[in-house]
Amino acid sequence: MAVNELLKEYSPYLEYRNGVLHFDGVNLKELAAELGTPLYVYSVNHIRDQIRAYKEAFPDALIAYAVKANFNLGVIKIAAEEGCGADTVSGGEIYRALKAGIPADRIVYAGVGKTDDELKFALENDILMFNAESEMEIEVLNELAGKMGKKARIAVRVNPDVDPKTHPKIATGLKKSKFGIDINEAFDVYRRAADLPNVEVVGIHCHIGSQLTDLSPFAEATEKVVNLYRRLKAEGIEIKYLDLGGGLGIKYRPEDRVPTPKELAEVILPKLEGVDARLILEPGRSIAGNAGVLLTQVQFLKKKDGKLFVMVDAGFNDLLRPAMYGAYHHIVAVEERPEKVVADVVGPICETGDVLGENRELCAVGRKDYLAVLSAGAYGFVMASHYNMRPRAAEVLVENGTYRVTRPREDWDYVLWRETT
Ligand code: LLP
Repeated sequence: MAVNELLKEYSPYLEYRNGVLHFDGVNLKELAAELGTPLYVYSVNHIRDQIRAYKEAFPDALIAYAVKANFNLGVIKIAAEEGCGADTVSGGEIYRALKAGIPADRIVYAGVGKTDDELKFALENDILMFNAESEMEIEVLNELAGKMGKKARIAVRVNPDVDPKTHPKIATGLKKSKFGIDINEAFDVYRRAADLPNVEVVGIHCHIGSQLTDLSPFAEATEKVVNLYRRLKAEGIEIKYLDLGGGLGIKYRPEDRVPTPKELAEVILPKLEGVDARLILEPGRSIAGNAGVLLTQVQFLKKKDGKLFVMVDAGFNDLLRPAMYGAYHHIVAVEERPEKVVADVVGPICETGDVLGENRELCAVGRKDYLAVLSAGAYGFVMASHYNMRPRAAEVLVENGTYRVTRPREDWDYVLWRETT
């Protein structure tokens, strides 16, 4: 396959022009030279297109972008402009979502260990719905809301015990996981919650896992949630929102074939016939994942034991996914060259596991050349750390040949902020 055709499958905005990689019309060699590396680059048009694909496929649903995937203010703002809500998992994420312009009445809030301060912050801001993960959380919400003269709108996050057929570390809907309340016990929890004075039961929530490329688990989970909805309705408990979470996978490997939001809709929507509740979806990765690349610069090369190592300035402090999940991220040279090499692309961190890609065929690169790590827009920067005292990368949005830095590169003093001996 011609390389530009392959790149288009990752993003229609990613292509070589005269041998130099461009993203959303911006020359990535010039961008990296201008802003330095490591650098996270996000395509505004790609993000918009993905959101619009969801909106077209699910015209009546609230698309609550899962900000955990990429919480850059500039990225969330695009979601806000497109009329999205936000799925959040901490007080800080709610704070960010509000700052970026997401209206509070479109914010849902999940998480197994919400603190009182976080719950109060969310209550003060009148968010749309708390996706409660335990009965104790519902009781605490009732108490806090009572003290504040508020009513907490809740959904119970149910755990439907569905195998999402994904990496075990990102499967969340199995019985043994910490998430949600067993769907078979949920009915009684709802009945008790409905009697609490400061809680209004409004929804059912479920999220079964992430990077799902097979749609059948979505079908199974939807059926189970709809059954619960009907039982609750028969009991006189009116459910206004069915929140089916996120989880749609994206292309990481060149050979990956992944379903579109439209294909997801074809599986979910027929199962919602006769259901009088608004659908909420919480996509994260499928909005931002292939909207982002991580640019990194080759520092040195060496041959060891017959193997070529390409040592770059981005490590697992910048992109944790390969080290944490053994995830594959495709890597391409920013400048095309006819000669090819096979190499391990490794970062600067003092650990053997700091490998971005193993045995990769790449255009022959030399010192100071740039590489682009693809599919880095979701769970990339947000999982970065300061390990080895490395400041976090800058983040930049590109759009129709222009760019704007939405988060500058950190420096050592930033990392040392308020620290004393
Ligand atoms: N809703 C809830 C309740 C979630 O827990 C998640 C993801 C989402 C929505 C969004 O799922 P998505 O559409 O992005 O699949 N760090 C891991 C992924 C962890 C996902 C956690 N929850 C990774 O890098 O693969």
